Amino acid sequence: MKNIVILISGRGSNMEAMLEAKMPCRIAAVISNKVDAKGLETARAHGISTAVVAHAEHASRELFDAALAAEIDRHAPDLVVLAGFMRILGEAFVRRYHGRLMNIHPSLLPAFPGLHTHRRALEAGCRIHGCTVHFVTPALDNGPVVIQAAVPVYPDDSENVLAARVLAQEHIAYPQAVRWLVEGRLTLGPDGRVRLDGERHEPGALLSPLPDAH
Ligand code: GAR
Repeated sequence: MKNIVILISGRGSNMEAMLEAKMPCRIAAVISNKVDAKGLETARAHGISTAVVAHAEHASRELFDAALAAEIDRHAPDLVVLAGFMRILGEAFVRRYHGRLMNIHPSLLPAFPGLHTHRRALEAGCRIHGCTVHFVTPALDNGPVVIQAAVPVYPDDSENVLAARVLAQEHIAYPQAVRWLVEGRLTLGPDGRVRLDGERHEPGALLSPLPDAH
């Protein structure tokens, strides 16, 4: 059975969705860069081993990344899952986990990389918004798309209401992507493109609306 390590910085609801998704893998550890991340309590309540690698205790990004990698590698993971992990990781770190590092971002990338995605989608007048699961490459919030899920934006939406609508899709999309990877169905090809069941998979899977929905 494959091992995964989940990295969080806060609430940990995507992590919790994975703990509850009963995926065919072992969640070897949950690691946070913040000692007070609420998700750490949730992980412990599920009997998952936790660790903290505090960025504030490291003098540089390189030292932090190296300490984080050392903690991750203790578990020899097949996949490292960024689930609301809010530190930018350096190029050496990203290359170390090439093809086994995934992230979820709360927008339909390449729209709205970075922070405050829901506010920016509302301000831009988008009628469609959503989330993206992607393999991580050195560019921020970029990399080959595995799954995107779209949601409508309604005229009277607040930032919080829209965020909750997207989050509900995140909790479906991310466990699905991880399941594909740990089942050996999803890989990042040498050409940098996503493959599902050996087929070139471009663009990534569309989760919502389903491709055959009318
Ligand atoms: C999620 O919405 C995730 O997409 C976002 O942070 C939130 C974490 O929530 N990630 C990013 O913005 C990464 N650029 P959670 O801790 O409840 O999973």
